[in-house]
Amino acid sequence: MTALDTCEAQPAAAIERRREQDRALTIAVLGRKGGSGKSTTAFNLAGSFVHRGLRCLLIDFDSQASISALFFADVKRNVIQPGQGTRNQMTTQSIGARLVDVALGIEDLIRRVGPGLDILPGDRSIESVSDALKDNPTGPHRLRRLLQGRTAQYDVVIIDTMPTLGYSQLSAMFAGDVAVVPTRLADHDTNALGSLLALHDEQVEYGFRPAPVVAIVPADYKGEESHQRTRLARLRKTYGELVTDPIPHSALIDRAFNDGIPASITAPETPVARAYQLLADRLLPREVPS
Ligand SMILES: Nc1ncnc2c1ncn2[C@@H]1O[C@H](COP(=O)(O)OP(=O)(O)O)[C@@H](O)[C@H]1O
Ligand SMILES: [Mg+2]
Repeated sequence: MTALDTCEAQPAAAIERRREQDRALTIAVLGRKGGSGKSTTAFNLAGSFVHRGLRCLLIDFDSQASISALFFADVKRNVIQPGQGTRNQMTTQSIGARLVDVALGIEDLIRRVGPGLDILPGDRSIESVSDALKDNPTGPHRLRRLLQGRTAQYDVVIIDTMPTLGYSQLSAMFAGDVAVVPTRLADHDTNALGSLLALHDEQVEYGFRPAPVVAIVPADYKGEESHQRTRLARLRKTYGELVTDPIPHSALIDRAFNDGIPASITAPETPVARAYQLLADRLLPREVPS
């Protein structure tokens, strides 16, 4: 029995409204830099939703599969050797193969890791499929198509992404209803944020419909350091209301990864868990665009 098993359902009005829509709210966690807090956000935000009694699917859309590797020793078996990987070498038991042939669906790939929390594992097939589909204009739109009609049993779907301005970011942008972008605060981090937002705007300019970015989330924030406070103020000046309360630095984050249980579940009253709860509050009441 884990803390995930003891988590109590706390349905609230927003959750009821959500369920009436009979469709999951899909949240893309974007960012072009490694270490910017994407996986931390995806995992602990999922914990915040589960803590309230919501049913959550976490999609690990990163070939490095950092979240999947927490739970499943076998995810690396889907590794495609460099130079090999296209459809033929890609095992059908991988998300990459399902993006090639969306009719196969995802149901049998999804694994339960606790009450209310399921994971669709990631692996190297995501890299292979981005290669295989690189000349196919439907490529980055296929994740949306793959999820369509297949997530109704969840309240929330969260998509973790890999940090390059390519297939994974675009796929999540198009599959999401809303997007959140965690970022650290150094100049190279905010430059990376700027280029991600530029890629997003470019999609809109060209007539596509990427998920609106509804939150820029300062990650791993050390408020006792004056340069961090200065940089946070600067981020707020640039992006205004989009910038959420920062997620404080906490040793609970690494512990959550080590234990495979989000901090929002093991320690819901701590500042870091409360910060993720606030982020969940901000996302939850949004109506899903039809
Ligand atoms: N709030 C936090 N407190 C402490 N450490 C953090 C926090 N947020 C992120 N980290 C650290 O930063 C590392 C990288 O974050 P991660 O979410 O894996 O980034 P990404 O997925 O964007 O590559 C984490 O493994 C963790 O050690
Ligand atoms: Mg990550």
